[in-house]
Amino acid sequence: MKDMAFPHIRPHPDQGRIRQSFRRGLDSYHRSASVQADIAARLAGMLQAQGAPRQIGAALEFGCGTGHLTRQLLQRFETGSLILNDLVPEAACALRALDGTVPAQARFEPGPIETLPLPQDLDLIASASTVQWIPDLPALTARLAARLKPGGWLALSGFGRGQFRELAALGSAAAAPSYLDAAEWRAVLPESMEILAIEQRPAVLEFGTALELLKHLRQTGVNGHAQHSWSRRRLRDFEAAYRAQFGRDGRLPLTYDPVLLAARKTG
Ligand SMILES: C[S@@+](CC[C@H](N)C(=O)[O-])C[C@H]1O[C@@H](n2cnc3c(N)ncnc32)[C@H](O)[C@@H]1O
Repeated sequence: MKDMAFPHIRPHPDQGRIRQSFRRGLDSYHRSASVQADIAARLAGMLQAQGAPRQIGAALEFGCGTGHLTRQLLQRFETGSLILNDLVPEAACALRALDGTVPAQARFEPGPIETLPLPQDLDLIASASTVQWIPDLPALTARLAARLKPGGWLALSGFGRGQFRELAALGSAAAAPSYLDAAEWRAVLPESMEILAIEQRPAVLEFGTALELLKHLRQTGVNGHAQHSWSRRRLRDFEAAYRAQFGRDGRLPLTYDPVLLAARKTG
């Protein structure tokens, strides 16, 4: 699918690489992204626990990827209409494979959420593990809040400043542009949004070798900003430095630092 077909797609220069990285990882993403699957389940649960009603009129999910959050939302809520968005047009195919759970009222719109034309009066906007890729989050959340009805719900997850702390310490360029701790979200959201619940709880995965760890990053598409290719020597040096600084009983830990929030538009 060519971007020419979507005139509103004018990616930020880096978005080309982010898109390529997620597109490449799409096939393997669904089974490899266990942390993101767990986050999606917790985020949908948080929304429900905060009192979001089972019947939701108009909903938007952006950065839907292969549908981890889509499934969780559809298990808990009935939506009158549902717009599913992702930067990667091929995500539409992944969603079609969602074993019949995407309802007839859902439609897929590709492109960057920052410039995607959006309807007014949404009842719910949700997104898991995507906002860390948005360079100007105050601008995006102001835009999203303006499209919510009064009383409308916002459920978001991103990652905090401890995300991949091991890679950051070793000088990797695999960071996304907007890692935010829970305490920073109040200043990012517009005043009209009341935060009902927010949590930040790190999760650590462990790998036997640096190669396995790098494969995991590649399969989940999360290293959209990493540019270098790996020579054998580079890999050996990286593994030695990783083990020396972070090795635990011969294993290599990798820290995820998810931040989840549920908010509601007050006026
Ligand atoms: C880590 S995946 C999360 C996918 C899914 N929400 C989940 O929880 O498994 C991040 C997704 O965000 C998409 N993405 C990144 N930047 C985006 C943007 N500016 N607009 C829309 N989607 C974007 C990527 O293509 C990718 O599918």
